[in-house]
Amino acid sequence: MAMLEFDEAAARNIQRLYSTPDIVRQRAEVLGLLAPQPGEHVLDVGSGPGFLVMSLADAVGSSGAVHGLDSSASMNAVARELTSSRPWVSIDEGDATALPYPDAAFDAAVSTQVYEYVADIPGALADLRRVLRTGGRVVILDTNWDSVVWHAADRERHLRIMTAWEEHLVHPRLPCTLAGHLRRAGFRVTGRSVIPLFNAAYDVDTYSAQSMTVIGRFVTGRQGITAADVDAWMADLRERGAEDDYLFSVNRYCFVAVAQ
Ligand SMILES: C[S@@+](CC[C@H](N)C(=O)[O-])C[C@H]1O[C@@H](n2cnc3c(N)ncnc32)[C@H](O)[C@@H]1O
Repeated sequence: MAMLEFDEAAARNIQRLYSTPDIVRQRAEVLGLLAPQPGEHVLDVGSGPGFLVMSLADAVGSSGAVHGLDSSASMNAVARELTSSRPWVSIDEGDATALPYPDAAFDAAVSTQVYEYVADIPGALADLRRVLRTGGRVVILDTNWDSVVWHAADRERHLRIMTAWEEHLVHPRLPCTLAGHLRRAGFRVTGRSVIPLFNAAYDVDTYSAQSMTVIGRFVTGRQGITAADVDAWMADLRERGAEDDYLFSVNRYCFVAVAQ
């Protein structure tokens, strides 16, 4: 069955999910690691709703250029609307494995939560290396889905749901192998770090509460999971919140590298 589709409904969900303070904080950390400078040309691979593109645009200023590249027309529509006031931004439709740019076009590139959806990692990283100048910097962030801690009273049902959720992407554990992939693609890895998303209480404006809906919708009908299972799973998690024994965390792994 198909992976998560980045259609119009998903674009709206992701816009909401990525506006939560958890992800705002993550973006600030990623931006700090990339350290974009005024006048630089920067690429965001899989730019989605365009929030990071906006921050990059403000960092490089009008003497620089920012390209957001995404394969989803719906995502690009959202990103174009957001960035329309920054004419030095371009939102381009294309695939991470066939970047529509000349060789050495960029000083820096970033990609958050994208390569885990891309089947051909060696091909995608080789093309990323091609479009960066030698010495260009890259920051890649992906989730390792083994890192999820989520307190559910019915653990067996919870694990069935999280197992079905792994169908939403190609590489649920990409961070385990990303450093090697980067090295083989012609990068020197200069930094590895972890950004935990941690929700100690149930609150609608958090990553976990927003994800619950996305996960529930995706897993319904997969691996024998019914709508009733999903309703009960969500009720269980909300009850953890009401009883003050809610706990969620997941790790995002950041790789900083330089094109050699
Ligand atoms: C989870 S979203 C992350 C969006 C954005 N990077 C962020 O962190 O806000 C994943 C994005 O990757 C895009 N994507 C997935 N596979 C892609 C591919 N092969 N080429 C380009 N974009 C892709 C999707 O359309 C979607 O916008």
